[in-house]
Amino acid sequence: MFAIGGLVRRLPLKKWSASLGCSYHTAATLPTHYTLPSGDKIPSVALGVWKSAPDEVGRAVTAALNAGYRHIDDAWIYRNEEEVGAALAASSVDRKDVWLTSKLWNQFHAPEDVEAALDESLAKLGTDYLDLYIIHWPLALNKDGSYYNKELTENPYPTWKKLEELVDKGKVRNIGVSNWSIRRLQNLTANPLKYQPAVNQIEINYWFPQPELLEYSKKHGILLEAYSPLGGDGRVGDSLRVKEVQDIAKALDITPAQVIISWHVQRGTVVLPKSVTPARVVENLQITKLPDDLFEKLEAAARAHKPERSLTPSWPIDFDIFE
Ligand SMILES: NC(=O)c1ccc[n+]([C@@H]2O[C@H](COP(=O)([O-])OP(=O)(O)OC[C@H]3O[C@@H](n4cnc5c(N)ncnc54)[C@H](OP(=O)(O)O)[C@@H]3O)[C@@H](O)[C@H]2O)c1
Repeated sequence: MFAIGGLVRRLPLKKWSASLGCSYHTAATLPTHYTLPSGDKIPSVALGVWKSAPDEVGRAVTAALNAGYRHIDDAWIYRNEEEVGAALAASSVDRKDVWLTSKLWNQFHAPEDVEAALDESLAKLGTDYLDLYIIHWPLALNKDGSYYNKELTENPYPTWKKLEELVDKGKVRNIGVSNWSIRRLQNLTANPLKYQPAVNQIEINYWFPQPELLEYSKKHGILLEAYSPLGGDGRVGDSLRVKEVQDIAKALDITPAQVIISWHVQRGTVVLPKSVTPARVVENLQITKLPDDLFEKLEAAARAHKPERSLTPSWPIDFDIFE
């Protein structure tokens, strides 16, 4: 099981809300960290760096470290590990104080390819270990042009065993998955695993709140990490304009993005907001516990509409990757 760590965090200790007709003390009690089965403590808020362009991502990482982030969520496929590594190396923050995640891309699932893929990420990031290494998608691509390997996609235990070996070698401290359904988690964990998946990184936002997967994951001690937490590029504006989000922002004198990021952590997930805008990077770390009634209002609104994913890959596959 993962445990909720120390209490957080700054932010305005006010304010009287005319619109909601009551006063709220937003004293800080959200977790700064969760404890994984390994005993490692993973910070609850990370800087996401997908689609962070060259010449932008390094500045974003520097801004994040200066603001107090100690968690960066990267991936081989984001093609920016080198610049992220350079920004980490240039900072005065010790490597051991930063939680660094990267992800195994689809074409490297064959057991003989896993370690070389990790080594490439390690070299680019300028480190000799990752805090967390994640299988990015449940899709094992082939190198022979036949597109994907059905067997390894459906039964990724050989890939997982290789990841377990990398834990034992000390190259990664925790291993996890991404974009996995309950069915896939059950398939994997039916094997005699040495290390259970510590996390599952999935899309979670106002438009796609995934309550069933959240409940399942809490029950089975798998920490969820919320990607596209603001709705991603395409829906961030819509998310920030949601009436409940706006009302809470006004009531607590915080920004709509802070309401949403706080909601994620209050639900018990890690949250991975991406920004290359330094002021937003700072803003997104300033989270606070929402009063229970406001939290419940936002939770109910998120669950009340038809769930809509922001991210659906257009790969030519003959199965639903999310099932
Ligand atoms: N495992 C996976 O398959 C997977 C898939 C998708 C994402 N992820 C991870 O999740 C991270 C976040 O996901 P995402 O980038 O899709 O979506 P997101 O974080 O929900 O949204 C990013 C967008 O929100 C804007 N934004 C950020 N903070 C803001 C603020 N305070 N006010 C207004 N706008 C703000 C950003 O603009 P600017 O950058 O211009 O400021 C950007 O356009 C990724 O970077 C990646 O690490 C993982």
